[in-house]
Amino acid sequence: MTIAPTDRIPTTAPINISEMKRVMAQTMGTISDKWEKMAEAKHYTLPQRQAFAQTFEQIVGPAPLRVLDVGCGPGLFAQIWAEMGHEVTGLDCAPPMLERARARHQQAGLNSTFVEGDAETPPLESSTFDVVTNRAVIHMLLRPGLAVHRWHRLLKPGGKLVTVNFRPDRRKLKHVLKAIRYRLNRGSKKFGVKYSREEWQTITAYRESLPFGTTVPKQVFELYTAAGFEDVRYVSDELVQAARRSHEVPEFRRGGYLRYILAGTKGAD
Ligand SMILES: C[S@@+](CC[C@H](N)C(=O)[O-])C[C@H]1O[C@@H](n2cnc3c(N)ncnc32)[C@H](O)[C@@H]1O
Repeated sequence: MTIAPTDRIPTTAPINISEMKRVMAQTMGTISDKWEKMAEAKHYTLPQRQAFAQTFEQIVGPAPLRVLDVGCGPGLFAQIWAEMGHEVTGLDCAPPMLERARARHQQAGLNSTFVEGDAETPPLESSTFDVVTNRAVIHMLLRPGLAVHRWHRLLKPGGKLVTVNFRPDRRKLKHVLKAIRYRLNRGSKKFGVKYSREEWQTITAYRESLPFGTTVPKQVFELYTAAGFEDVRYVSDELVQAARRSHEVPEFRRGGYLRYILAGTKGAD
């Protein structure tokens, strides 16, 4: 396996990788309730979920398939796949997120499995999934190239990797202002996160070590190719965008970001 240039964490990083990951997972755990409520109202309205399901069926074909959702958070994205009739496993590094995911799926009568682990080195068996998917995660990884290689390994021949993420809309200043506010506040007021000096140093080191910082689809495309994926292509998210526009929640109006969906296929061995 070749190490992608994006995966070279600066050796000058003052904090070790496992400590950076620990603080990030802890932060995600702390905000899990607010994050779930925000995401539910903003990104997972019924029309958006239906539009995602329709788009995914076009990419992967009919259920039932074995689907892994990496960085599943509170299980909202995984729920779309499970409700399509797939057999879903969700993986996340933050236990409070996993608790929410388990409760959500149980309440919805879905028989999904949730596993604690690192998206870069998932503790799962090779060649066992038909689909590996991830939403709003890849830009948070210190070694996205390693992750994409590992996800390739988890897929059966012919299996698909489906990445959904946002990318900054450079015509809008909103995402820049948000990042500045986050720095000035030493955390996010919206999620009620305020870091101690030590945590802030660690979180800053984490952010500065992120190869993508914000996600750039072209870089993710290159990681797919480097990992050996074939037929790598952007898939239109027009259905989802239309659904969002038709049902916009005023207090969660988007601004500053666009979405992309990238699919690739693992070739026959
Ligand atoms: C922005 S949330 C997205 C949650 C979910 N995919 C969704 O779209 O609704 C990112 C999630 O990725 C998880 N995450 C970030 N880095 C991770 C890693 N290295 N291993 C496992 N999970 C990770 C976080 O704990 C968090 O739950």
